[in-house]
Amino acid sequence: TINHRDRGHDLGTKEVSFGMSAGSTIEKPDYSEAKIVVAMVGLPARGKSYLSNKLQRYLLWLEYQVKVFNVGQYRRQIYRRMAEESGHKADQSSNFFDTKNEEASKAREAMASECLEDLIRWLKAGGNVGIHDATNSTRKRRKALADRIKREPGLKLLFIESLCTDPAVIAANIAVKVASGDPDYDGQPPEQAERDFRERIKHYEESYEPFDPELDKDQTWCQMVNVGKQVTVNRIDGYLQSRIAFYLMNLHLTPRSIYFTRHGESQYNVEGKIGGDAPLSAQGEKYMEALPDLIKKKLGDTPLTVWTSTLRRTIQTASLLPYEKLTWKSLDELDAGVCDGMTYEEIAEYYPEDYNARDDDKFNYRYRGGESYRDVVIRLEPVILELERQENILVVCHQAVLRCLYAYFHNLSQEELPYIKIPLHTVIKLTPKAYGCDEERFTLPIEAVDTTRPRPTRLDQLKVEKRDLGTLSPSTSRPPSRGRGLYDA
Ligand code: F6P
Repeated sequence: TINHRDRGHDLGTKEVSFGMSAGSTIEKPDYSEAKIVVAMVGLPARGKSYLSNKLQRYLLWLEYQVKVFNVGQYRRQIYRRMAEESGHKADQSSNFFDTKNEEASKAREAMASECLEDLIRWLKAGGNVGIHDATNSTRKRRKALADRIKREPGLKLLFIESLCTDPAVIAANIAVKVASGDPDYDGQPPEQAERDFRERIKHYEESYEPFDPELDKDQTWCQMVNVGKQVTVNRIDGYLQSRIAFYLMNLHLTPRSIYFTRHGESQYNVEGKIGGDAPLSAQGEKYMEALPDLIKKKLGDTPLTVWTSTLRRTIQTASLLPYEKLTWKSLDELDAGVCDGMTYEEIAEYYPEDYNARDDDKFNYRYRGGESYRDVVIRLEPVILELERQENILVVCHQAVLRCLYAYFHNLSQEELPYIKIPLHTVIKLTPKAYGCDEERFTLPIEAVDTTRPRPTRLDQLKVEKRDLGTLSPSTSRPPSRGRGLYDA
């Protein structure tokens, strides 16, 4: 019987049999029934691509198959090919977007529909969420899109409109488009590019029809006004659509930074043990004392909220920070189950099968009686939504949990996630930008042990297998006392 109160759990006690099979590898959730076309709606420079990419990042993190189909990229590809064949460049300036230019309008319709057909094919081949990143700015275009989707049984359609009236946000979006080396304005001086892009927007404005609760009452849509200010939803249907709508409701564009740090070095870190609820070591206490100055230097008088886990090493690390603090159970370290309190060497000795299974697939491996990285990702979803809603936050928690949060903000794969380097005594500052996040790291000169276990090579695994030949299997040998009592709450 393992007492979980020592990890801040309020689960009481639970039975763990040492004779049970090795920790399991958990299958991906079955999302095969979920098939949605998300069609973006809005004028150029309203942040549609920004929203598409954010939504993609969030859903990928939750393990849906997601792909963005950007009509602008289709247009550029088609015209590049035509230019190569004919030897002269077609006009892609604002004239091309003039609603009176019939030939160009037809070409634009054809490209949007070609892009949609690819999207449908991709969904039918196993995708879950295909994002049609286009303006879809007229009722006629949206009706054609809805009629096409209706012919595909099993596919649902959700429109997401970004309606933006804040001139500062529009100007910032235009600046990103013009400055980002956008292929539409390749080699043009920025002022000329901006003039043309504003002209293009004007053409779209002539025919733009935003969603209207009366006129569009039969369609499924989510209208976001000035991202974060107001959201209207209509006829949202089913779990995935509500999940998407809820995510969008939590977004905002206010500039801010998110700070991550692990707790200061703990007694367990020094002893090479995992899990537990140990207090800080002497070096960890030095980090606790130095942290307020570092944060103050970086933030000045900007308001900040500090989140910790329920484990004492994080609460202790944050104890001298003069800000509002919140304790989250969801931020507790990955639960190592029966291995909690052991060193990696002890795990290799007493649970060789588990040790190897984890090395084979670290993201999916679930400790006996404990968690996998995938389990942690799932329990962190509310934390992610709250992080999106908030402004400046400092999260003081643990190695595995911070890897999961970091992977969300940097869009890293499940393969990379469990090996991300999050050293002790280092503050990581993430600043969300139009696409992804800027990152800075501040390491305090306070020595700490290195708790990272590098990705194993095949040779390391063979060594473990060989050494295990002489050891007993976990069903007949019990691991030594794990010294947990020392750090009981
Ligand atoms: O060693 C510190 C620690 O936070 C442990 O408590 C935890 O089990 C481990 O890191 C997670 O890292 P990994 O997944 O690489 O074992």
